[in-house]
Amino acid sequence: MKKILLKGGKLVSPRGIKKADILISGEKIVAVGRHIQTDATVVNVGGKLIFPGFVDPHTHFDFEVSDTVTADDFSSGTKSAVAGGVTTIVDFAAQKQGEMLSDALNNWHVKAFANSSCDYAFHMSITDWREDVKSELEGMFEQGVTSFKVYMIYDGMELNDREIYEIMQEVKKHGGIVGCHCENSGIIGKLREESIARGDTAPENHPKTRPDYTEAEAVRRFLTIAEAVGAPVIVVHLSTEAGYEEILRARQRGVKVYAETCPQYLLLDEDLYRKPFDESAKYICSPPLRKMHDRKALWQALKNNSLNLVSTDHCSFTVDQKRAGAEDFTKIPNGMPGVENRAVLMYSYGVKKNRITLQQMCAYLSENPAKLYGLYPQKGVVKVGSDADIVVFDPHGSGRITAASGHGKCGYDPFEGVRTEGGIDMVYLRGKLIYNAGEIVLENSGRYVSRKPPVL
Ligand code: URP
Ligand code: ZN
Ligand code: ZN
Repeated sequence: MKKILLKGGKLVSPRGIKKADILISGEKIVAVGRHIQTDATVVNVGGKLIFPGFVDPHTHFDFEVSDTVTADDFSSGTKSAVAGGVTTIVDFAAQKQGEMLSDALNNWHVKAFANSSCDYAFHMSITDWREDVKSELEGMFEQGVTSFKVYMIYDGMELNDREIYEIMQEVKKHGGIVGCHCENSGIIGKLREESIARGDTAPENHPKTRPDYTEAEAVRRFLTIAEAVGAPVIVVHLSTEAGYEEILRARQRGVKVYAETCPQYLLLDEDLYRKPFDESAKYICSPPLRKMHDRKALWQALKNNSLNLVSTDHCSFTVDQKRAGAEDFTKIPNGMPGVENRAVLMYSYGVKKNRITLQQMCAYLSENPAKLYGLYPQKGVVKVGSDADIVVFDPHGSGRITAASGHGKCGYDPFEGVRTEGGIDMVYLRGKLIYNAGEIVLENSGRYVSRKPPVL
């Protein structure tokens, strides 16, 4: 069995930072500590930070939506992921109307198999809740799908409160977890219709027709359902202070609620929607970018450990695809890329700006997603017995984000030109070096990871 000793680095975990060497044998970590006696090949990582491979539990690769398909498929999406230090993604398999969950899951396996440069797992988005679908849930758990997304908005995906209640009841029986896209569909639908009727058709109307209270109301309703069922739940891509306050209130009542935000909601402002169409359309995602006070509240929540995940919601479209909404902002496909730059952004604008600590960065990007989504301790931690998924991070590196130097296929980056500190030096996936000094050195060696129920 091939052995590698990563020597001289500082190992980061949510509990601290310590000097530790890491011995890898085959796909696993077999020793962590100082003065390990071994005949392994030594890799000097002196001066570097060692993180457990990052987990991005919110991607949409090869996703058919809005009469088109995302620019990134599993091939380009997972290469972007690897360049960002991500060794596991959890992508959203999505049921179409009339479809069985088992068929949706098979479709996602076909999309990902032999095309993935990092390991991958699947959530299941349930969009058509029926008796025959209910009877499939057990099979989903047996096949390693233990988390389910429901949408309170979007044609063809939206579920009503009763359906969400029933899904939560069923998922709870199996020890799984339901995540929700929380936006009030009725109000937003009406505001959008009125906006177009007035002739307000440009992207700047996107945030105006999705005000913060539409997220807050939906969060409150989702958490009321969770309270009624007594089920743990996750609010995905939280974007507002008002929504966050609903989470705090629900927690005070004893609701077990976990919450995710994304770099775009921490760092970008709704003013970007005032730019000319080809620029502003790049930032159309739902929920939309928000205001300064929302970003401040989200950073403070991260500082207090009151949020649990910083994921990307990577869902990329080219400018050409976005032009479907040139005359009507409601027709712009929603989403933006993100999987490649999450770690450097969180290091540069989180850790280096004293908004979060390195330990918290490790929790938000590795350990928490691994625990919440049933990947831990195989993933999300550097300890004996875990997969040897490791990021060697240079704390002294610096760079500038450009789409041209990235691996995504949409042709732009929402953070184009932004300066970053730190950098991903090397990435190991199950003991194999897959990224080194700016290059992907091993492609398509990702495997499906069958998940267990969450560790809550
Ligand atoms: O605009 C977004 N976020 N698109 C991706 C799908 C979703 O709602 O997560
Ligand atoms: Zn969503
Ligand atoms: Zn999403």
